Amino acid sequence: MKSKSVQLRKRAISRDLARCRQKTLDLIVQTNSEAFTSQAHPDFSPIGWHFGHIAFTEAYWILEYLGNCSPLFPEYRVLFAADGLPKAQRQNLPSIKTIRDYLSIVRTKILDYLETSSLDSQERLWQWLIQHESQHNETMAFLLQLYRRNQNLVSQVNFARSSTAGTESSFNLTEMVSIPAGEFCMGSNAIEAQDNERPAHKVYLNSYWLDRYPVTCRQYREFIISGGYQNRCYWSETGWQWLQNNPVCQPLYWSDAVEWDNHPVCGVSYYEAEAYANFVGKRLPTEAEWEKAACGITTVPATSLKCNHNSLIGHTTPVNAYPEGQSSCGCYDMLGNVWEWTSSWFAGYCGFSSYPYFGYSRAYFDNQHRVLRGGSWATSPWTLRTSFRNWYHPWVRQILVGFRCARD
Ligand code: AVJ
Ligand code: FE
Repeated sequence: MKSKSVQLRKRAISRDLARCRQKTLDLIVQTNSEAFTSQAHPDFSPIGWHFGHIAFTEAYWILEYLGNCSPLFPEYRVLFAADGLPKAQRQNLPSIKTIRDYLSIVRTKILDYLETSSLDSQERLWQWLIQHESQHNETMAFLLQLYRRNQNLVSQVNFARSSTAGTESSFNLTEMVSIPAGEFCMGSNAIEAQDNERPAHKVYLNSYWLDRYPVTCRQYREFIISGGYQNRCYWSETGWQWLQNNPVCQPLYWSDAVEWDNHPVCGVSYYEAEAYANFVGKRLPTEAEWEKAACGITTVPATSLKCNHNSLIGHTTPVNAYPEGQSSCGCYDMLGNVWEWTSSWFAGYCGFSSYPYFGYSRAYFDNQHRVLRGGSWATSPWTLRTSFRNWYHPWVRQILVGFRCARD
């Protein structure tokens, strides 16, 4: 079959750019000027910074790097570059309107460039750019949630409107699936694959067990009421150290309401996930174990029927709400709902090569970041796939993250 014409591929790119941008603008509409400029947490930039950084990145990679233009707004270089100011110094921002205009001026110019470019050898960069905005969208989505929490502005989620499938307690939460020994293909060589997903390669794994569902609030409550946060024996050395310095007693996005019982735990550090796994006599899966268990999930078309993503619902859903989204071995919720901690340090696959720059992935191959898999309720379609790798420091719990457990 003849490959898609350049014209069609360009049209697909501009359509995805527009859809992803709509998500960005939807978020900004919900953001007041205080939320725009303030840090919801010291580890994260203000929402407004992400907004400007999206435009800066687009202008830099398309207009300057591909198009050889001189910088469009040189005064934004220090402010909006990822390697510019420390996060705490990113609160002095232009107005929402000014940054919105910045985004739209840059967007018009890059679309002009797309029209006249040959696209050959540039398509990967366009795909990267869409995913760059998509990832910042998710960050803005959870920062907005965090800001509202800090301000006590969180309203009670209306469960009548949300999916109630699976709120009955008939399913067996503790069920595990068995994955037989053998090889599978890990990673991806697709045009949209990030540098850290490449190259696709064969991996052999011994047989293992994996939880069919992410750990739910009901399950995690057992850990809490059994004194999990007080009992050192469940915690790793570094985990216990972290807990002493950051005395918490429940996940960040926690509710004791019975309606949340079958929702996945959300807002735990790697250390808490690890302690829970020890509590139930299990362990966290490696990212290879996670990805092998996700085999058989296809994301297009009709992903919205298959998992909770793209902020369509706006919060977590019961872990068995999407039977259509099961993987071949019968795991639920591998995509969407909450990210899942794995026990793997973020590192390059054999044959890794940086793209589009060293600081995108390679700078984090430092044995200080754990891999997270699967995407959350706020992950948009462009970064929702079983080979996608996210990474954070193990102490981060402001993200939309839960976990499931494994066993030999
Ligand atoms: C992979 C989500 C941790 O948000 O810092 C955005 C993605 N890299 N801009 C981040 C990213 C450069 C990254 N995460
Ligand atoms: Fe970025």
